[in-house]
Amino acid sequence: MMRSLLFVPGDDSGKLDKALASGADALILDLEDSVAADAKASARRTCLDFLKATAPLASRPRLYVRINALDSGLSDNDLDSVMTAGPDGIVLPKSASGADVTLLDARIAVREALHDLTDGQTRIIAIATETAASIFGLGSYAGASRRLSGLTWGGEDLAADIGAAGNKNAAGDWRQPFQLARNLCLFGAVSAGIIPIDTVYTDFRDLDGLRREAEVAEKDGFCGKLAIHPAQVAPINEIFTPSPQAIANARRIIGAFAAAGDPGVVGLDGKMLDRPHLLAARRTLERAGIES
Ligand code: COA
Ligand code: MG
Repeated sequence: MMRSLLFVPGDDSGKLDKALASGADALILDLEDSVAADAKASARRTCLDFLKATAPLASRPRLYVRINALDSGLSDNDLDSVMTAGPDGIVLPKSASGADVTLLDARIAVREALHDLTDGQTRIIAIATETAASIFGLGSYAGASRRLSGLTWGGEDLAADIGAAGNKNAAGDWRQPFQLARNLCLFGAVSAGIIPIDTVYTDFRDLDGLRREAEVAEKDGFCGKLAIHPAQVAPINEIFTPSPQAIANARRIIGAFAAAGDPGVVGLDGKMLDRPHLLAARRTLERAGIES
């Protein structure tokens, strides 16, 4: 399950240790925006030490590293360092299109071979809406890499790129350009057969606001949400775990199709159900970690 993915500044060993106990499904050790330019090299060493110490633990979150952008001049050094410890995955910021993911795939493959890691074991999650141009690449991720397991989006760098004064309105809802980015990320991920992950909620003291945003995202089809503070993890996990009622309902729908000999359409409780309902039911069980 990838319900909660907690960002941790990669140069802060105190927060790295704290993050391990957060209950997050994945940690994203950050080498990019939360690390100052003059701390990049020491952050790589801190992340590497943490990965080496943590990877062997029997029970641990998945460990991803957010490298610097491909055009930053830093990403190859980031990979040279962290790939020696075999992280579970790499988060690619400022991804412009599937071509960027394909390029990263090749760079990862070289390091996997060099360090005797299993070919293909390192996954990729792309942050796919951080520039205006990237919006036009959101339909290009299908087939980009067999490593690609999720797409997520960001509203902070996008606001800076387009020169927006802000990204949310007075009521706390995303302004229109950011809703478009979010929605296209959702469609882009699902159409590429990978999971859509909702972006961060930056006001980390406002857990009610986080809950509202996460609930809407879950209803719309997102499978999880990025977190920036340990307090955000429990609400995110709760909201993105299919409820017992949702699981029971999904089982009934799948059962109704099976009992009727798998037709295109069935009736259940006086309501018509067709293929989209069956797919949604299967997806619910998949997200709950149940084989259907
Ligand atoms: N991971 C692990 N531990 C974290 C954490 C995180 N993302 N955010 C906060 N903590 C720890 C703090 O170090 C503190 O630990 P302590 O009690 O041992 O001192 C505790 O949780 C409470 O933190 P709090 O005082 O509420 O927040 P803060 O002011 O220390 O930190 C931020 C606020 C925003 C700086 C911090 O949450 C953070 O660094 N978040 C991640 C930022 C990031 O990676 N951004 C890039 C992606 S957008
Ligand atoms: Mg950023």
